[in-house]
Amino acid sequence: LADLEIHGDAITVGIAAPESPWRQWPELGRRIAAAAATAGIEPGRIEVLGRPMNDDEVEVLYRALKGPGRTHENAGQAGLGHAAGPTTAAPFMEPDAKTRVLGISSGKGGVGKSSVTVNLAIALTQLGHEVAILDADVYGFSVPKMLGIAEDPIAIERDLMIPPVAHDVACISMDYFVPEDKALIWRGPMLHKALEEFLNNVYWGEPDYLLFDMPPGTGDVALSMAQYLPRAEMFVVTTPQAAAQRVAKKSAQMARDPKINLSLAGVIENMSWFTGDDGKRYELFGSGGGAALADDLGVPLIGQIPLVPELREGGDIGVPVTISEPTSEASLAFEGIAKWIEGHGPRRIVPKGLKLI
Ligand SMILES: Nc1ncnc2c1ncn2[C@@H]1O[C@H](COP(=O)(O)OP(=O)(O)O)[C@@H](O)[C@H]1O
Ligand SMILES: [Mg+2]
Repeated sequence: LADLEIHGDAITVGIAAPESPWRQWPELGRRIAAAAATAGIEPGRIEVLGRPMNDDEVEVLYRALKGPGRTHENAGQAGLGHAAGPTTAAPFMEPDAKTRVLGISSGKGGVGKSSVTVNLAIALTQLGHEVAILDADVYGFSVPKMLGIAEDPIAIERDLMIPPVAHDVACISMDYFVPEDKALIWRGPMLHKALEEFLNNVYWGEPDYLLFDMPPGTGDVALSMAQYLPRAEMFVVTTPQAAAQRVAKKSAQMARDPKINLSLAGVIENMSWFTGDDGKRYELFGSGGGAALADDLGVPLIGQIPLVPELREGGDIGVPVTISEPTSEASLAFEGIAKWIEGHGPRRIVPKGLKLI
């Protein structure tokens, strides 16, 4: 807030924004009007004037968002020990962070991993949680489009960006940084570096959940996650047919590789059935794959999501089905998974060398 002037009946609110024109003006205007209304002030009496921040104001904002004490020294305890420079580590890298990191993985593409990430994120917000997504699927960054995000993050100084938010979910994606007409080959070290940037130079706040849309199959992102976020809980998305289940098993086994050793939390089956107009369930892709995989891995099958045209359409137009039809069969399935996650905390990590009597 830069200014507040009251002249008789007219109130002028001056606000300085980190970029100009600032895309959040209409929303901010609405919120100011709503706040004023609760104090009995009619919206017509308020005028909101925006201007770009000056250098000093940017500096103050930068320092406020970067926070004081979190440096790589503390980050080192969370497994990050090598990076240099006074950058700030994301709060969820602290050993006692409240943020739960959920890795959404699959054996292959096209099984609905990104759709699950986005709708599960929204289902968690609908239970009252603060949620963010890190889109790390190098084979196709699809989260911004599914959330309907058309803008880039806001950059503040050289090493701080604020992620765009849609449907109450903040999202950072490599998609924002890769030229549209360019196909990049992501090698392990490059991926590792990009993730490090996202964890250190993005203002995440301290969400309750951070969902990772992981690339199918490969271990590079999982390896980096294991290093930066060893407390991450992994979920495997699969379709019901037996062939898909065999592929999905590989990604689950990867999580359990001693080099990675991420906690495997459960299986989510997608495209489980299609409910016809006759109310009958048609199992178009077979059945039992999710349950068999869960059984095989010794983890629970925590949800089955039906095949619904609205789910695909929602992803295409940037309004996910959990927003457009929150009481539909698919949305209720996501709500069930969100509640399961809410009720099942992460595995407790017992430090090596600690003796329990
Ligand atoms: N349950 C579902 N019902 C209908 N369409 C779905 C469902 N799950 C995913 N899809 C569609 O299938 C395609 C692949 O899904 P996507 O989430 O992009 O998969 P992945 O991230 O695993 O590659 C998308 O067009 C998506 O809209
Ligand atoms: Mg995807």
